Amino acid sequence: MMARVIDGKTHAARERAELAQKVATFRRVVGYAPRLDVVLVGDHPASAVYVRNKEKAREQAGMEGRVHRLPAETAQHELAALVADLNHDPNVHGILVQLPLPAHLDAQAILEAIDPRKDVDGFHPENVGLLALGRPRFVPCTPLGVMRLLKAEGIATTGREAVVLGRSAIVGLPMSLLLAARGTGDATTTICHTATPDPRAVARRADLLIVAMGRAETVDADWIKPGAVVIDVGIHKRDDGRLVGDVVFESAARVATAITPVPGGVGPMTIAMLLNNTYEAARAALA
Ligand code: GUN
Repeated sequence: MMARVIDGKTHAARERAELAQKVATFRRVVGYAPRLDVVLVGDHPASAVYVRNKEKAREQAGMEGRVHRLPAETAQHELAALVADLNHDPNVHGILVQLPLPAHLDAQAILEAIDPRKDVDGFHPENVGLLALGRPRFVPCTPLGVMRLLKAEGIATTGREAVVLGRSAIVGLPMSLLLAARGTGDATTTICHTATPDPRAVARRADLLIVAMGRAETVDADWIKPGAVVIDVGIHKRDDGRLVGDVVFESAARVATAITPVPGGVGPMTIAMLLNNTYEAARAALA
């Protein structure tokens, strides 16, 4: 039996259609639309594609926004000054500084300079802390998208064994917090990382395996308990141009009960969640 393939594109399209309705109502009632400003420094090719996709989705949702494109040699104080301007602009509800930043810039200092009430990425320490305490405000978009996908697919997490491969600030860490959180995931949650001696043995315990290790086509059927749900957060471009995840899809799909593809799994949900967070930021600013 082949695993059911979880269609993230369809779920994300539904999320975005629902959001467009809410945005239309917001605009009618308040007289303006939620606004997301994106800052892109330099010419990292993948980042340029991601930023373009965010722009397209934002426009389709009927939201306002601007992309601030800065040269690769921008100085720390110049970038910080732009962030300060956006913090103080009452028309801007969400701010996203696209990562990675050029190596000469201190990314952590920039993320901490963003007003936490406009931090729609959920990367500011205040928002990470609120999530860790079970009082989430802005949750990072990729793990939030994974939780929404699981819910939409009717995949329960309560009392299950969840294993997260990867401990990054963007995915692995917030993912594990959401899965473990009371009333949100309620799963018994384990994180594996580069110092885990035998991650495959741990992964094989999982009812729900979240793969966010950032290594192309690494997790095959041997890592998966028969009947597990596999969520692949990785995305990599092979030399022949093919996009692949951290999971060897064909192999894993023979053992899993449900699996996300790459592309078309988690990725489309990420952008939908970013726009949702921006809408929530605009609503919160009204109060
Ligand atoms: N680069 C890759 N993913 C992300 C993300 O979710 N947010 C930002 N700001 N940069 C990224």
